[in-house]
Amino acid sequence: MTNGPRSGLTAVSTALLAMSRHLEVRDVLKTIVVSARELLDAEYAALGVPDDHGGFAQFVVDGVSDEEWKAIGPLPRQHGILAAMLQEATPQRLADVRQDPRFEGWPDAHPDMSDFLGMPVADGEDILGALFLANKKRDTTRDTPGERRTGCGFTADDEQLLAVLAQHAAIALTNARLYERSRELTIAGERARLAHELHDAVSQKLFSLRLTAQAAAALVDRDPARAKGELHEVARLAAEAADELRAAVVELRPAGLDEDGLVATLRTHVKVLDRAHAAHVTFAAHGVRALPAAQEEALLRVAQEALHNALRHSGASAVEVTLTRLGHGAALRVRDDGRGFDPSGVRRAGRHLGLVSMRDRADGVGGRLTVDSEPGKGTAIEMEVPGG
Ligand SMILES: Nc1ncnc2c1ncn2[C@@H]1O[C@H](COP(=O)(O)OP(=O)(O)OP(=O)(O)O)[C@@H](O)[C@H]1O
Ligand SMILES: [Mg+2]
Repeated sequence: MTNGPRSGLTAVSTALLAMSRHLEVRDVLKTIVVSARELLDAEYAALGVPDDHGGFAQFVVDGVSDEEWKAIGPLPRQHGILAAMLQEATPQRLADVRQDPRFEGWPDAHPDMSDFLGMPVADGEDILGALFLANKKRDTTRDTPGERRTGCGFTADDEQLLAVLAQHAAIALTNARLYERSRELTIAGERARLAHELHDAVSQKLFSLRLTAQAAAALVDRDPARAKGELHEVARLAAEAADELRAAVVELRPAGLDEDGLVATLRTHVKVLDRAHAAHVTFAAHGVRALPAAQEEALLRVAQEALHNALRHSGASAVEVTLTRLGHGAALRVRDDGRGFDPSGVRRAGRHLGLVSMRDRADGVGGRLTVDSEPGKGTAIEMEVPGG
């Protein structure tokens, strides 16, 4: 290796390290391919990243003009030497690629290639792609006239240099994969949060809204004045649902908690439900102090879902909510005298989000949730939080 390629490699290496942090993977690959062709004096260079369907997800070339590229036609498939490099993960240095038994020909407009140097792009055992060069540019002034040079123009030094560039490509591809994966995870997490938020807050408000609207419809002929009152309630609930929706989307705390605190917010909530439902719904607080915001929010959400379940599923005539001081923290209890159920029989997956969501919320603030229920015995949901 002469000084030229070595200092050239240092420059390329530095540039790649700087750029791979914030550039599209394709641009990084392109830089690698261009550098490989220049540093190793090749006529052609390419890097292919296979897809799962026998083709290439990415195929970056250098040394081929746009017109030539178009004339060649569709992207290559994984066959011949390319396929071999993707399967065997060994470097290939060939004097004449066309003479290799694995060679399967190429399209008419494909440039003619003879000496060939191919390097797998691998992350450990995992082959991510292949980087390859063709046609070492020869210093023809040193050829004896009439004598054709034989042997591969690419040297063992070239092979080493290409291995370093292939490692850079592997890093760029691995980073891109990790980035994509972390983005997917973030999106999935965000979807789960929104689903819970919509379930816990918005769908409950809409449920109350529906009941109140039904009450108004039933009253409108008989008692227009009361129907009017119910309709005001409909408007108020609709406005609250809209607020909750906005809060869920921008991840705000439930309306009311900041201004009024947990006890007042719970008391109001219980009052509204008591009015809207046949069951008698009551609330009592015992010595509760202000708690860390996240714990108050979790308690409120769990109380809302437990109440909602009691009113929707249990047929209870009475539902009691109590909030009691417990050391630095607090304990919430929502108890109904309804039909009860077998908690172990509720499938975790699928459409039932409520119990899962309550547990997640308790876990999320270092708290504990217990579901105490049995058919015929009513249900008690308890949640303890540690406080600040
Ligand atoms: N207080 C209760 N009384 C009787 N059955 C209940 C009570 N709470 C929950 N259940 C039963 O447990 C099941 C699961 O409740 P969960 O809150 O997880 O889902 P859901 O209320 O059916 O649907 P979602 O809450 O997702 O709208 C309910 O479908 C119901 O059969
Ligand atoms: Mg529910």
